[in-house]
Amino acid sequence: MADAIAHEETADPFADAGPAKMSARNVSIFYGDKQAIDDVSLDIHTQYVTAFIGPSGCGKSTFLRSLNRMNDTIASARVKGEILLDGEDIYRSRLDVVQLRARVGMVFQKPNPFPKSIYENIAYGPRIHGLASGKAELDQIVEKSLQRAGLWDEVKDRLGDSGTALSGGQQQRLCIARAIAVDPEVILMDEPCSALDPIATARIEELIDDLRGRYAIVIVTHSMQQAARVSQRTAFFHLGKMVEYDKTSEIFTNPREVRTKDYITGRYG
Ligand SMILES: Nc1ncnc2c1ncn2[C@@H]1O[C@H](COP(=O)(O)OP(=O)(O)O)[C@@H](O)[C@H]1O
Ligand SMILES: [Mg+2]
Repeated sequence: MADAIAHEETADPFADAGPAKMSARNVSIFYGDKQAIDDVSLDIHTQYVTAFIGPSGCGKSTFLRSLNRMNDTIASARVKGEILLDGEDIYRSRLDVVQLRARVGMVFQKPNPFPKSIYENIAYGPRIHGLASGKAELDQIVEKSLQRAGLWDEVKDRLGDSGTALSGGQQQRLCIARAIAVDPEVILMDEPCSALDPIATARIEELIDDLRGRYAIVIVTHSMQQAARVSQRTAFFHLGKMVEYDKTSEIFTNPREVRTKDYITGRYG
């Protein structure tokens, strides 16, 4: 009986999740001599939104960037361990990083549309990846991506206007549409709402919920309320370690680790 209870308590929260879209295995990340991530292993699944939470400086962005090799752009950064996408190592030699970043897209803290038209912001990726055979097909991809990002109705009559002329919230949805346009499998978002007002934030959160299941979505957020609202799985990071990873409801109501409990109850932030 005691055994049965112990088993229940340690049941794998991902047991019914099917194969992982991405898996990190014993990942450590360094900037020069300084270690920012220490031996993190976790799986990411398409059917869940996964939130990364934890105090500032604990390595959330560093770890997120390792999932599409964005750390490659930082000269001192070094990644140890293994990161798999559909079971294949994304750090293998001869991997096409441009292709990888189309499959694993990224949305940043500060909306960063290209200083080009709304249309071009979306069309650029599909064009360089050869996803459209002509203008009509490209138009379709632009429309579909903007539809999916919940922006089409607001911009359909001014696709020639500059992307940078949109409001902050619209710019962020444009960046999400841009990521969607190249048909990604995973979308990484690093505090995508931290530069937005509450109404624009609510729209992005609704959008994340609409996109759930179609793409594996990982969102870094410093807002525990946001993690609770948008995610089904939450990983708590502290001082470069992943302390706990579980169903979001468990993390917020019944954490296993004292450090998680201290964080969610506001003892340190
Ligand atoms: N480009 C970089 N060069 C050197 N150190 C960095 C760089 N980016 C982040 N760090 C360091 O790595 C640690 C983790 O940072 P970061 O991943 O940005 O944390 P978080 O996103 O949780 O706030 C911090 O100590 C930070 O100073
Ligand atoms: Mg960060």
